[in-house]
Order: sequence, then structure tokens, then C-alpha cells
Amino acid sequence: MNILVTGANGQLGTELRAAAAGSGNHYVFSDVNAVPGRETLYLDITNIDAVRIIAESEHIDAILNCAGYTDVEKAEDDAAFADLLNHVAVANLAAVAKERGAVLVHLSSDYVFDGRSSVPYREDDVKNPTCAYGATKYAGECAVLESGCRYLIFRTAWMYSTHGRNFVRTIRRLASEREQVKVVFDQTGSPTSARELARFLVGVVDGGGLAKTGVYHYSGEGVCSWYDFALEIVALSGCRGRIVPCRTVEFPSKVHRPAYSVLDKSLVKKTFGIEIPHWKDSLRDCIRRMDAPSASDSK
Ligand SMILES: NC(=O)c1ccc[n+]([C@@H]2O[C@H](COP(=O)([O-])OP(=O)(O)OC[C@H]3O[C@@H](n4cnc5c(N)ncnc54)[C@H](OP(=O)(O)O)[C@@H]3O)[C@@H](O)[C@H]2O)c1
Repeated sequence: MNILVTGANGQLGTELRAAAAGSGNHYVFSDVNAVPGRETLYLDITNIDAVRIIAESEHIDAILNCAGYTDVEKAEDDAAFADLLNHVAVANLAAVAKERGAVLVHLSSDYVFDGRSSVPYREDDVKNPTCAYGATKYAGECAVLESGCRYLIFRTAWMYSTHGRNFVRTIRRLASEREQVKVVFDQTGSPTSARELARFLVGVVDGGGLAKTGVYHYSGEGVCSWYDFALEIVALSGCRGRIVPCRTVEFPSKVHRPAYSVLDKSLVKKTFGIEIPHWKDSLRDCIRRMDAPSASDSK
């Protein structure tokens, strides 16, 4: 099988390269920006003709979409561009998948929910995004469902990895520069290791899981606040800075973030027969790799 990975130089895409290294399938990695040392086909997913040409020439059977507009703050002022990437471009991928009879594997977000629940969100719970990013991600999901293509949508949350822009790297930096770092304790979720998610996705592709059309939730096991998450990051990293709890209102922002974004993972675990590691175990693994002498950050 030939699998086209889009956004292959982002957090998840980078982990997919590693996860797919031993696969018997052929993965084609694409992105809009090259990264030295990484073989990357140029593909801008907002250009449907380009998607069509590459899907045709590479005989693509499945598209794994890791591309997206992921800057939640900037999306508020840049909603049109966020929509182009998270919605219109996703419709492009879905249309090409439909034309070819290929499967689209798409990543979505906990931000499609409004965060007013007090129990973990199930896949079919009411969607009510409260910010521009969430609205564009939800529009992208709808485009996939309306396209008539074969699809799997995985909603994830609070993703981090050894590279890219993420909470783990930000807290490590701030807690080594400052004596104290304020972190909100009134937003609850589940941190997700991009490495674990990438391994799972390759398992789905290689293990015949592409036939299991549907919407699924995948995040790390366990629940915490950003404050708890930061405390664990600092403890595992040996940073000097103290983590101080604060409320969301203390950080003025245009973004209305869901206060509770825990995802119910029962369906993904049952359907694919998996166990998901606890977020603390995955975090320990990530920090160990960050602190390894050979660790490098190429993006
Ligand atoms: N990160 C999270 O916490 C989180 C949570 C829930 C869901 N998700 C979803 O998971 C997916 C992957 O997230 P991530 O954190 O790995 O994202 P990421 O690190 O921001 O990577 C996205 C990649 O897409 C590329 N890209 C941008 N515009 C493109 C275009 N027009 N055509 C092709 N590629 C383009 C980006 O390139 P440039 O960097 O050069 O622009 C980047 O390499 C996204 O769909 C995201 O919405 C993420």
C-alpha cells in the first residue's frame, strides 16, 4: 500500500516518519517546508490539483493528514487562513480520496467541544466549538463526512513531542529561565504523546485497520490540569523554576478554551484492541529522549 503523509515535518508527521520506518508499506512524506536531512515531497494541500497529481503519480491508497493550522491564538485573527488549512484543504484531500477510492485518515481536536461537560466526551457528543481554531477543525470534520470518501477521523488533544512548538518544551524553557512560572489549574485534559499516537496510526494502517471507518478519540490515558502537567514536566526535567497555579482569567486571551476537554477513549481501545499508556509514562519517555546526549531539534 502507498500512503501519502501530509504535514510530515510537524510534530505528529515527524513521529510518523520514525514509526513507519520498519513498515512493509510505502510512505510518501510531504509538507510545504523542507527540513534539512528529511526527504520531503513538496505538497501544499490547499492546492487540489497538486494533491491530485501526487496521489495519481504515487499511486496513493491512503492519505494520512498531519497538516493543519495549529496556532490556536493566531487563528482568532487569522480565521480565514485557519479555515483554508483546517477545512478547505481537508475537503480537497477528501475529494481526491473519494475520486481514487483511497482512505483519508484525518486528525481533529478536542476543541470541537465546548468544555462544559464534567464527564469525558464521547465521539457523538454535541459539537460546539468556542474558538476559531475549534470551529475550523469541526468544519474540516464535516467536510470529510460530507465528501463520501472512506475515512477515519482521530480527535486528539494536548499533543507534545521532543520537537516543534508544544507545552512540554515551553515549560522546560520557561522553568529554566525564570524563578517561577504561572500555569492554569482550571483547564483539564489528557496530554498526548505524538510518538504514541504515531505508532498507533502506523499500527492501524499496517494492521488492516483502515477498513474501520469512523470517528474516534485518542489521547494519553489519565487526566490532569495544565498545572499538574507542568509540575510533572519540571520534576522530570530537574528545572529550577517553581510552577505556581493560577486561573485562566489571569491570562487575558481572545481564545475561549474549553475548561474540560477529556476524551472518552473506550471506542478506539475496543475497536483496535489497544491499550494507551498513561500520560505520565509517555512524558517520562519523551523527557528522557530530550535529555539524551544525542537529542537534536531539527525543527
Ligand atoms: N498539537 C496539538 O496539541 C493538537 C491537539 C489536537 C489536535 N491536533 C491536530 O493534530 C494534527 C497534527 O498536529 P501537529 O501538532 O503535529 O501540527 P504541527 O506541528 O503544527 O504540524 C503541521 C504541519 O503542517 C504543515 N503545513 C502548514 N500548511 C500546510 C499546507 N498548506 N500544506 C501542507 N502542509 C502544511 C506545517 O508546516 P509549517 O510548520 O511550515 O507551517 C507543519 O509541518 C493537526 O490536524 C492538529 O489540528 C493537534
